Amino acid sequence: MAFNPPPLKIRNFTVPIPVVQGGMGVGISWDKLAGAVAHAGGMGTVSTVGTGYWNTEHIRTINGRPLKPKNFHNTENLMAILKSAKEKAGGNGAVGVNILYAITDYERIVKESIEGGAQYIISGAGLPLMLPSYAGDADVALIPIVSSPRVVDLICKRWKRHGRLPDAIILEGPKSGGHQGYTFEQCSEPEYQLENMTPRVLEACKAWGNIPLIVAGGVWDNRDIERFFDMGVSGVQMATRFIGTHECDADDHFKQVILESRKEDIRLIKSPVGYPARGIVTTPLIQRVMAGVRPKITCISNCVVPCHNGEESNKVGYCIADSLADAQQGKFETGLFFSGSNGYRVKRMQSVQELMEKLSGQRADEDAWQGREDDQDDAPASGSGVAAYAVP
Ligand SMILES: Cc1cc2nc3c(=O)[nH]c(=O)nc-3n(C[C@H](O)[C@H](O)[C@H](O)COP(=O)(O)O)c2cc1C
Repeated sequence: MAFNPPPLKIRNFTVPIPVVQGGMGVGISWDKLAGAVAHAGGMGTVSTVGTGYWNTEHIRTINGRPLKPKNFHNTENLMAILKSAKEKAGGNGAVGVNILYAITDYERIVKESIEGGAQYIISGAGLPLMLPSYAGDADVALIPIVSSPRVVDLICKRWKRHGRLPDAIILEGPKSGGHQGYTFEQCSEPEYQLENMTPRVLEACKAWGNIPLIVAGGVWDNRDIERFFDMGVSGVQMATRFIGTHECDADDHFKQVILESRKEDIRLIKSPVGYPARGIVTTPLIQRVMAGVRPKITCISNCVVPCHNGEESNKVGYCIADSLADAQQGKFETGLFFSGSNGYRVKRMQSVQELMEKLSGQRADEDAWQGREDDQDDAPASGSGVAAYAVP
């Protein structure tokens, strides 16, 4: 029997399907994906990082790279992306943004997202302590991403000083794609797995006034959604499975890399942002980095604060902005292809509408996860001596 999850109410909107499509940068979730998810009755999230790449005609570039944050996180493009996503949504679901706390010009992007009509702001990759102060009295839902009950307390205490609490909270577990809120070691420890962290974070959300909790990281099908709703959550955030949709904004070659990936290709790597990141490690860029090939990197876009204008890129061996943008454009040789640990389960392309119907139990799901073996995605590859991560 399929599970029909209840609608999700956050601040001043209600979506019929409690599925948040997670923001995916650079450019994996722009207007096409976010608009389609909202149209199907969910929360469609536009990634605000590197919007300069959406349309480079009016952007100052060097070697095809948007120059400095003004061009990289571009105002005009962000406005156009939001407008287009909302048009595609046609008044259904909700359209919002994902803003990494680590990006340069964070305050500007918060203000522009509100001006562009975002109904909610999801913010992680750092503690978004200043978010309410930048949002001011705008009637927009503010949704921080957390990794533990301690972080819930920290954020709520600080936000209360600004006279508001989170409208919802996302707990992102260590099976998610891209940057992680945990150390390399924690990512494979039972204590930090989503199932085990959820009850503790739910308690904290209850203590702060029943803040709706949304869980993310490794959620795959209707049965997973039921499992977490049984625990008491109000919604799920999913990203990797949406890469296998026609509407996903990435180039077809990006989608192909995910479709062809094997379980053992998806690992944690070091990132210049300072957190472990999960992606496909058997692609040429990461293979070169692992082999010690580290060409000098000149920082053009200055995308995130913790990289210190390319200092960290040079230590890690690649530029996060350039590599993610190359992947989005389907450049296999130089791209960095983020994926959650479920990436290898993406076996077909489908429409967002179809996928949303499967997730909400209205349609049979031929890719429902049958095995249910609790696989240790981060277990050391046997005999290789290589532990949880590919890039030590
Ligand atoms: C390709 C890709 C890019 C991502 N980029 C971002 C991002 O820019 N900001 C962010 O907060 N999370 C990002 N994430 C994490 C997702 O929003 C989401 O929370 C997570 O991947 C959920 O797990 P799942 O992929 O197993 O469904 C990214 C994930 C993927 C797969």
